[in-house]
Amino acid sequence: MGTKKFYITTPIYYPNNPPHIGTAYTTVIADIIARYKQSLGYDVFFLTGTDEHGMKIFREAKKRGFNVKEFVDKQAEVFKKAWSKLLISYNRFIRTTDRDHEETVKEILKKMYEKGDIYKGYYEGFYCVDCERYYTPKDLKNGLCPIHLRPVEKLKMESYFFKLSAYRDKLLKLYEENPEFLPERYRNEVISKVKEELRDISISRPKEYLEWGIPLPFDENHVAYVWIDALLNYVSGVGYYVNKEEFSKYWPPDMQLIGKDILWFHTVIWPAVLMSAGLKLPRRVLAHGFITVGGRKVSKSAGAKSLDHYVDKYGADNIRYYLSRKFSPFKDVEFDEEELRNMVNSELANTLGNFVTRAFALYNRYFEVLVSAEKKDLVIEEKLKKAVENVLANVDKFIDELKVKELIEEIMRIVFMLNNYFNEKEPWKLAKNKQYKEFIKVMFNSFETLIFIAALLYPVIPKAMSTLFKHLGYSRSLKITELKDYGKNIDFRKLEKVKPILFAKL
Ligand code: MSP
Repeated sequence: MGTKKFYITTPIYYPNNPPHIGTAYTTVIADIIARYKQSLGYDVFFLTGTDEHGMKIFREAKKRGFNVKEFVDKQAEVFKKAWSKLLISYNRFIRTTDRDHEETVKEILKKMYEKGDIYKGYYEGFYCVDCERYYTPKDLKNGLCPIHLRPVEKLKMESYFFKLSAYRDKLLKLYEENPEFLPERYRNEVISKVKEELRDISISRPKEYLEWGIPLPFDENHVAYVWIDALLNYVSGVGYYVNKEEFSKYWPPDMQLIGKDILWFHTVIWPAVLMSAGLKLPRRVLAHGFITVGGRKVSKSAGAKSLDHYVDKYGADNIRYYLSRKFSPFKDVEFDEEELRNMVNSELANTLGNFVTRAFALYNRYFEVLVSAEKKDLVIEEKLKKAVENVLANVDKFIDELKVKELIEEIMRIVFMLNNYFNEKEPWKLAKNKQYKEFIKVMFNSFETLIFIAALLYPVIPKAMSTLFKHLGYSRSLKITELKDYGKNIDFRKLEKVKPILFAKL
C-alpha cells in the first residue's frame, strides 16, 4: 500500500504588517496538524504564504514611500523570519507575485472564460479596502464597513463578473452530499445564505483603477480581483504550473484551515471557482474563531503587538503550546498572558519538565544498577502501556476532527499519570533500600512512557521534545510510526547522563 498524502493549507496573509498572535494562531494549528500527520506516516504538503496584490498593499506601499514590489519583497521576508522563529515547517511559502502563481491564475481564468462563466459588465457599489471586499448597502453598519467600522468606498467601473449564481444548486448539492466540506459550526449559516442571495461577483478592475495585480488573459486592460487571485494560491502552491507530477499527487487539499472571517470566500466562491475550472474540490474547509485581547479581535489596526514580541518574550514552544491548548473551532478565545504563564509553568515546567529532571537524576545516580538490568527485570506496567496505546490509537481521529486541544489534554493526562506513578512508587526509596527489582521496573516504565510522550508532544513543542529525544538516546526525533511496541524502545545504556532543564519557569 502506498503512503497516504495529506495536503493542508492556511490562508495567505496580507503582508502589509508583520504577523501577530491572531495570524500565528491559524499557522501554528496548521503546523501542528501537519506535523502530526507526518508523524503518522502521511506524505504531507503544508502550504502557507502571503497575499501580495490588491489595493490595500498598493496603498500601504505608497504610503511608506516604497515601490510596491520592493515593499512586498521586504514584507514577505518578515513573515518567513517570524514563521521560522515559531518553528513553522511549511513545504512551500507561496507569494502571489511568484511567477508560477501568476501563470496559474491566468490559465484558470482562461478556462473559466472559455467555459462561458465570465462576462463583462458594470459594477456599482461599495468596497472596503481593509477587507478587500464588496458590500451591499444592506451589509453596512450605519453606512460603515461592518468589520472595520470605517467608511467604505463607492466604486463605479467596468468589470468582469463570475457567474457565481449559476452554481447555486451545485453548491447546495456539495454541502448535502459532502457534509464534511463545511465547518460544522457554520453549516446552517452558509447554506441559508447561499439559498437566499447568491449573486454574480465582480472579479476584475480596470487598470486605471488599479495596476497592481495579475492582468486578465482575455483582457489586458483589467487585473484580477485580489481574492480570486489569492484563492488560486492553493492551486499554484502545489505545482499546477511548474510541477504537474507534484500537483497530481497532492491535489485536492485535505484540510484548509481558515478564520471565520473568510468563510464565504472559502466555502462558496472557492468551490464554485474550482467547479468552473474543472478541478477537484477540497475535502474540507475548517474554520476557527478569533483570538481576542480584552475581548476584541486581535488585529494590527486594533494595536496588536507583533508576533516576534511574544516569541522573544516566551519562546516558540510555549506560544505553540498555549495557542493549541486554547484552540477552538467553535468560539473566540482570549489571549491572556497570565494564563499562558500559569499554564506553561504548571503543565510544562512543573509537571513534565520536573518529572524529566527527577527521572534523570535517579538515572545518573543509579546508572550502574540500571545498565546491568537483565531483560527479565524489564517488566511492563500495564496501566501505563494501556494509557499510551489508547492515545496512540486516537491521534489520527482527533486530528481529523480538529480536536487539537483535546488531543493535547489526553497526552497530558499520561504525563500526570506518570508523575503520580513516580510519586506513589517512590523509586528513590526503592533504590536506597536496595529493592532493585522493583526500582528497575519503575524506572524502565517511566522512561519508556517518556519516549512515547516525546513523540506525541513533538508536533506541539518540537524544540523541547527534540532535546528530550537526545537525552533518551536518540540522535533525532522519532515519528509515531517509528516507535516500537511499548516496552521495546528504551535502552538504559544509551541515555545521556544529564541534568535536563526542558522548560524554564516563566
Ligand atoms: N489575504 C486574505 C486571505 C486570503 S486566503 C486565499 C486575508 N488575509 S489576513 O491577513 O487578513 O488574514 C486572515 C486570516 O488570519 C484569518 O482568516 C485567520 O486565519 C487569521 N487571523 C487574523 N487575525 C486573527 C485573529 N485575531 N484570530 C484568529 N485568526 C486570525 O484575509
